[in-house]
Amino acid sequence: MSKKITVNDIKKAKQTHQKLTMITAYDYTMAQLVDRAGVDIILVGDSLGMVVQGNENTLSVTVDDIIYHTKAVKKGAKSAFILADMPFMSYHVSVEKAVENAGKIIKESGADAIKLEGGADVIDKVEAIIKAQIPVIGHLGLTPQSINVFGGFKVQGKQLETAKQLIEDALALEKAGITAITLEGIPEKLAKIISEKVSVPTIGIGAGKYCDGQVLVSNDMLGMFSDFVPKFVKQYALLHKDIDTAVKKYIDEVKTGQFPTEKHNYSIDNDVLKHLKKEL
Ligand code: KIV
Repeated sequence: MSKKITVNDIKKAKQTHQKLTMITAYDYTMAQLVDRAGVDIILVGDSLGMVVQGNENTLSVTVDDIIYHTKAVKKGAKSAFILADMPFMSYHVSVEKAVENAGKIIKESGADAIKLEGGADVIDKVEAIIKAQIPVIGHLGLTPQSINVFGGFKVQGKQLETAKQLIEDALALEKAGITAITLEGIPEKLAKIISEKVSVPTIGIGAGKYCDGQVLVSNDMLGMFSDFVPKFVKQYALLHKDIDTAVKKYIDEVKTGQFPTEKHNYSIDNDVLKHLKKEL
């Protein structure tokens, strides 16, 4: 069994030029699969609001949802670092609420760290959570909890002012003592500048190849959806096709009596059966 990944391994990865890999998982089975395959970090992302709960965005996810899914993931993962998302409005109201919710997630779910969205605007919360001895991973760029402000899922940092703001945000997070920064939906060349400017690893999604690591949503990279594939996603499998074929075959075999067969059945002693039939 490979050893448990810690914050130290994540920080060291940048110095040793080892690319970090992060994948989302929301349940025990998927956590076991991606952990066995050797992924460094499993993110229990608030993307669960979309891919598990079927909502249009991540905004309705609760702290209890994150705890429920992280507990299951934790049981399935032996080596990977477990990162839990702080959902929308769980860290925005006050520093006290932010620390309280971060602490609740860590205590009740067993996550190794929390991730939250934002830069300079949430720095007081980031500092307080880190002071409470909870490692924090940041998230900048196309942060899905801000879609109503962005006016949709739109690439960020394309203009001079917004690009400069993202660099400042990354530096502020670094100064606050963040473990790593997720960069989502920003131009590759801006992600390169940020990655070179900060000493902590950057983990990109739709942010190009110069980030110190990459993250993808498991349901996307495994091709579990057929209707929409975002530009930044690479489908490493087409599970929706395999599942469709398997389920159609199952339906056919049940309807035609080909399943179950002898090897799927449990036996009963002939004497017991004889007596049972006599008594009926
Ligand atoms: O919730 C999530 O899955 C995420 C990733 C897209 C980085 O935050």
